[in-house]
Amino acid sequence: MLKILIFFVFSVCSVFGYFTLSGECPKNVPVKEEFRLAEFYDKWYQTHYYSSDGQKQNNCSVIQLASKSTGIYLNQSRVDLGLFHRYSVGKLEIPPRIEDAAKLNVSFTFPDAPRRLTVRKYPFYVLATNYNYYATVYTCEYSPLIDKHYIYVWILSRHQILNDVSKELAIKPLAALGIDPKKLVKDDLSKCSPKYFEDMQAEPMTFRYPVPIH
Ligand SMILES: *[C@@H]1O[C@H](CO)[C@@H](O)[C@H](O)[C@H]1NC(C)=O
Ligand SMILES: *[C@@H]1O[C@H](CO)[C@@H](O)[C@H](O)[C@H]1NC(C)=O
Ligand SMILES: *[C@@H]1O[C@H](CO)[C@@H](O)[C@H](O)[C@H]1NC(C)=O
Repeated sequence: MLKILIFFVFSVCSVFGYFTLSGECPKNVPVKEEFRLAEFYDKWYQTHYYSSDGQKQNNCSVIQLASKSTGIYLNQSRVDLGLFHRYSVGKLEIPPRIEDAAKLNVSFTFPDAPRRLTVRKYPFYVLATNYNYYATVYTCEYSPLIDKHYIYVWILSRHQILNDVSKELAIKPLAALGIDPKKLVKDDLSKCSPKYFEDMQAEPMTFRYPVPIH
């Protein structure tokens, strides 16, 4: 009970801090056409990101996609708060319609959370990519409780450095979301050997969870 209470209080406090953009998530966000997931596999470095609540919690973020017998999984690893090397593994949901190929969802399972919060699903839309150099991925969550939303955008690169041409292409989709590219934060990939290495799965810090009170 106490755990649930703490979780709840924590979540409610979080909601007010994280969800800063008014109204619902943008509709009809243009995504990558004819997206081919098979070419999106393996490793991506996050060279820049946009987080609408302005939080800067990690560096050295790497996303890795891999197939297992039970599905396709996404492993997000990063250095949290400059101290902890952590990772989170989510399962990708593959859209059945070919037109929606880039509209992936990722779901994380937290067996210890209160039951209605054990599985958390987030959009994970690929807005742009050429598979070999850059990719732009977007998520948005809406909190009906306060009628606000939260956006996170990953600018990903196959290499630790994103070349200028690729960066230009990668930031193009930001215009449709009304995001000023100046608000992108550069991920620092130079100090990636922190003090602590956690080999247990942790909560992903790039997503926000609206408290489901109805
Ligand atoms: C996720 O990636 C990190 C960093 O590469 C690695 O240490 C960890 O073992 C991976 N976890 C899984 C379940 O693949
Ligand atoms: C990320 O790296 C930058 C530049 O080194 C540093 O200023 C910032 O504190 C780091 N952020 C975190 C959360 O470790
Ligand atoms: C992703 O989640 C949304 C909202 O729950 C749902 O409408 C959509 O069908 C899901 N897509 C996939 C590929 O599961």
